[in-house]
Amino acid sequence: MKVLITGGAGFIGSHLTDRLLARGDDVLVIDNYATGRHDNLTPQAHLTIVEGTIADQDLVNNLFDNFKPEYVVHAAASYKDPENWAEDSRTNALGTANIVQASEKANVKRVFFFFNFSGFFLTRDGFRFLSQPLRFGRRFCGWFPGSF
Ligand SMILES: NC(=O)c1ccc[n+]([C@@H]2O[C@H](COP(=O)([O-])OP(=O)(O)OC[C@H]3O[C@@H](n4cnc5c(N)ncnc54)[C@H](O)[C@@H]3O)[C@@H](O)[C@H]2O)c1
Repeated sequence: MKVLITGGAGFIGSHLTDRLLARGDDVLVIDNYATGRHDNLTPQAHLTIVEGTIADQDLVNNLFDNFKPEYVVHAAASYKDPENWAEDSRTNALGTANIVQASEKANVKRVFFFFNFSGFFLTRDGFRFLSQPLRFGRRFCGWFPGSF
């Protein structure tokens, strides 16, 4: 099975990648390494790693056209800098739109989306609500082994 994983060098994405490769699937990872780590993934047959951003629609469309994924796991998320609204918007809004549109066009069987919904964050003084009017953050949307 062919699975495209966004944010595949991150915590969730890299563990999923390992599990899928171990059972013989082909995996393509796209990650810009904003919070992901190169040593989270071990280069090997059946794994393609692309360093880039999901906000780049041409790149995303090319990857879908060439790899032709059957399933998509969307685990890329921007949250590193609470003040960087632009990057959060590019990744979490525009990037997600790019992935959803490309998935639809490629007729993928299912998209698994780990939604990011940070309504608040932790400071030294405790939890504080973000003042940003629009912000995607951390919320678990659902991954169930065996759902593929
Ligand atoms: N880890 C958890 O326990 C947990 C729990 C609930 C929800 N989630 C959600 O699941 C998602 C993934 O969480 P995680 O813990 O794996 O985070 P993570 O930071 O380890 O992984 C996110 C990955 O996305 C990559 N990324 C960021 N911007 C990108 C872009 N523009 N293009 C391509 N890649 C980009 C990062 O480099 C990173 O590798 C997040 O939305 C998070 O909120 C995680």
